[in-house]
Amino acid sequence: MHILVTGGAGYIGSHTCIELLGRGHRVTVLDNLCNSSTVSLDRVQQICGQRPAFVEADLRDRPALESLFAEAAKTGGFDAVIHFAALKAVGESVAQPLRYYENNISGSICLFEVMEKHGCRRLIFSSSATVYGLPEKLPISESESIKPTNPYGHTKSMMEQVLLDTAAAHAWNVTLLRYFNPVGAHPSGLIGEDPEFPNNLMPFVAQVAAGRRPKVTIFGDDWPTPDGTGVRDYLHVCDLAAAHVDALEKAAPGAATAIYNVGTGTGYSVKQMIAAFESACGHPVPSVIGPRRDGDVPTVVAEASLIRQRLGWEAKLGLQEMVRDAWNWQRRNPMGFKGALLD
Ligand code: NAD
Ligand code: WQD
Repeated sequence: MHILVTGGAGYIGSHTCIELLGRGHRVTVLDNLCNSSTVSLDRVQQICGQRPAFVEADLRDRPALESLFAEAAKTGGFDAVIHFAALKAVGESVAQPLRYYENNISGSICLFEVMEKHGCRRLIFSSSATVYGLPEKLPISESESIKPTNPYGHTKSMMEQVLLDTAAAHAWNVTLLRYFNPVGAHPSGLIGEDPEFPNNLMPFVAQVAAGRRPKVTIFGDDWPTPDGTGVRDYLHVCDLAAAHVDALEKAAPGAATAIYNVGTGTGYSVKQMIAAFESACGHPVPSVIGPRRDGDVPTVVAEASLIRQRLGWEAKLGLQEMVRDAWNWQRRNPMGFKGALLD
């Protein structure tokens, strides 16, 4: 299949490019590089010997999308789109809601309109466990109510609705993947998560371990969890990448919609994650206990059986691989894609 990957230069997108190319698909990446660089695609080429075609464009640039789809039509068109491109920082979305709604919603709608015009009606969408807000029941199943608590989460739940309505009206085949907490990196250490300032736990821990930041602040140790720190369902980014390609290859043909949690079903606390990282890097990762972060919830763990039953997908990599690969990426790229690659 020829797959358009929006946001394919980013963290999850670049890992998914490897999985797609490895399974023999043709890949075109569209990205405006607002949170990434083409070095990730150079590294994809280094890993799998092929470079995805790349178009630097913004999702909201309709003429650019039109010409991309028209060009692809000359060789059979895109068979499907995997739509990663979005802004994703929760705190930033609270401070700049219009920017988030504009980018994530206007950009997506522009993409979907061009897809419909060109008869490309198959899409895998990056949704998030954040759509569940404060869950009523654990583990969280796909039938849990949708009630996001921040503008970023609203952009995801709104786009889910737009896609379900579009699928019903125009016979699209849509898979919504609600990711829990993706972490880790490709085992080569050539690609990984590269935030300038990390908002999430694991990249923060990795940067502290590499000496880029002095310490991790643990956001509260008085939560109703076994050790008092927040519990999350972390999954290896390579497993997550595989889930996209499974969804693409194993989805029911024709018009259909499916919604899947993508997680492991196992939760680890902040303290457990730091301890695991210390074992991987071989030295202490300094941390202090700080106040709770606004909007946090104690425990978020997926009910992950639906995707296993329907697509045969389940996480193959565990905590040890997550921290090993996160550390390998950070160790080899202490300054991320901007810095030198170490052996
Ligand atoms: P990322 O920032 O590394 O990748 C997103 C990519 O989209 C970047 O390369 C960015 O340059 C690009 N982009 C953003 N807006 C664009 C636009 N208007 N036009 C073109 N390109 C644009 O983020 P990621 O962690 O790889 O996340 C990928 C997707 O998964 C996002 O939709 C995110 O909301 C979702 N998601 C991420 C997580 C997570 O923890 N990383 C969890 C759940 C869901
Ligand atoms: C994990 C745990 C924190 C940082 C976020 C988004 C969600 C999704 C995934 C995109 C929590 C604690 C964190 C730190 C800490 N992204 N923590 N010190 O909050 O589960 O989810 O990323 O869709 O939408 O909300 O992930 O990694 O930020 O936090 O103690 O410096 O680590 O309190 O318990 P979260 P996270």
